[in-house]
Amino acid sequence: MQKNEQIWQQRYLAAPKQLSKLKNVGTVIAAFNTNIDAVVKIRGDELSKLAEQFDLKIADIKNGVNQLCSVRDVVRGICKCFINGIAEEWLCQDAAIAEWMQKNLQYERLQMGGQAGIIANLAAVLGVKRAIVHTASHPKKQAEQFLHYKNLYAVDENAELQQASTMNRVNDDALIHYIIEFDKGECCTIEGQNFTAPRANRFIATYDPANMHLKINDGFIKYVDENGYDFLVLSGFHNLTAKNGGEERIGEIVPLIKNWREHYPSGVIHLELASTQDKVIRRVILEKIAPLVDSLGLNEREAIDAIEIIAPDYYKKNKNEVLEAALMTEILLKIKEKTQTPRIQLHMFGLYVTLQNADFRINVEQNRNGMLFAAVVAASKAGYGKIEKPEDLLWSNIQNINVPELAELQKLSECLNMPELLSDGIAKLGKYDIIAVPTLIVPKPLTLVGMGDTISSVSLVSAI
Ligand code: GLC
Repeated sequence: MQKNEQIWQQRYLAAPKQLSKLKNVGTVIAAFNTNIDAVVKIRGDELSKLAEQFDLKIADIKNGVNQLCSVRDVVRGICKCFINGIAEEWLCQDAAIAEWMQKNLQYERLQMGGQAGIIANLAAVLGVKRAIVHTASHPKKQAEQFLHYKNLYAVDENAELQQASTMNRVNDDALIHYIIEFDKGECCTIEGQNFTAPRANRFIATYDPANMHLKINDGFIKYVDENGYDFLVLSGFHNLTAKNGGEERIGEIVPLIKNWREHYPSGVIHLELASTQDKVIRRVILEKIAPLVDSLGLNEREAIDAIEIIAPDYYKKNKNEVLEAALMTEILLKIKEKTQTPRIQLHMFGLYVTLQNADFRINVEQNRNGMLFAAVVAASKAGYGKIEKPEDLLWSNIQNINVPELAELQKLSECLNMPELLSDGIAKLGKYDIIAVPTLIVPKPLTLVGMGDTISSVSLVSAI
């Protein structure tokens, strides 16, 4: 084995030690979007039938807007993701479309959905003292998606903590998102033309009035006001639209975040950007929220989307380029300059990259520890399919998936002319620190949903 591979493997073998430190982490709060994901598996022939039934045209797939205004749009969205092997989430405002999905899309299983819900479940398994989640709606069906852990709480209307898996607000509606997954290599026919899915991926069709308006419980706000947090992981802004009053809604939430920051300066606030279709909202998130938080997490697609807003000319020049690490790092720098967020972390296939201010309170080694541990957990989730028990976290380690593929990191270190980045994963990039970690690749992942949320939250909370 090459020397650098051995060095990284040694680092990966420290995962159990890293896990043992997590019981010392106090309160991790995950807000705002929690929902239920109904996972549907679609075969190519089933999709062909739907395309025919709705007389779908290839031109509609190429040119239409990313929105669900009719049932036909649901089929159009699935086809778009299928043909291109991409992941997208489109929103709908019409209960009739949701009803059609309920009747016509057979789901295989229900699981926790929404960044906040997914992160809270994970934080509980990590063994932090208190994982607290915001839920806009908490009927029994939602409670059932929470793991049955005593350190996992939701907040009731009186600002009291209750075990999330047993809380039941009987009058609340279940907020169900349809996750329509397809396998790589499946074939479908649209307008007489054959297509093969180039990658396994998913289309998410969302009808969720509460999260689409970013409804927040007063009890939750009061709890955070009074008790603070060690880590506050925020997301859910991506579900807003300008038409729905999303800009005004963000305007109402900004003072809350400012207030929390002021009262709990030692707490770390992280924003998970998530895929935001509405460009007005994307701009408002980048201009109003990103500058308020300590840390920002995003994948390469979300980074490109951010650049579309921040640097339109640069975006036009680069939007069709291969999204490899050196270009992504350049893009991260641009986002960081614009938002001034002290820490930015990118998760992409094969590599995680963090850029942070030299005086950031989580140091570079701690960051590297956290990013390595996140790669172990992400590989376990991908390979084992779920993370429900502490031993699941280390599944990949036990399966000897611990030798990373160094190709991306190598290219980056060559491009930046920083050999130390390849061996240490730590270097100086202008006035910032850069930390880059090669990830563990699972050849046949069982799941991809929630991977970004997993990587960002684990690498932050376990950066100790
Ligand atoms: C989005 C979707 C949600 C899904 C999550 C996964 O928030 O709305 O359904 O669980 O992404 O990251």
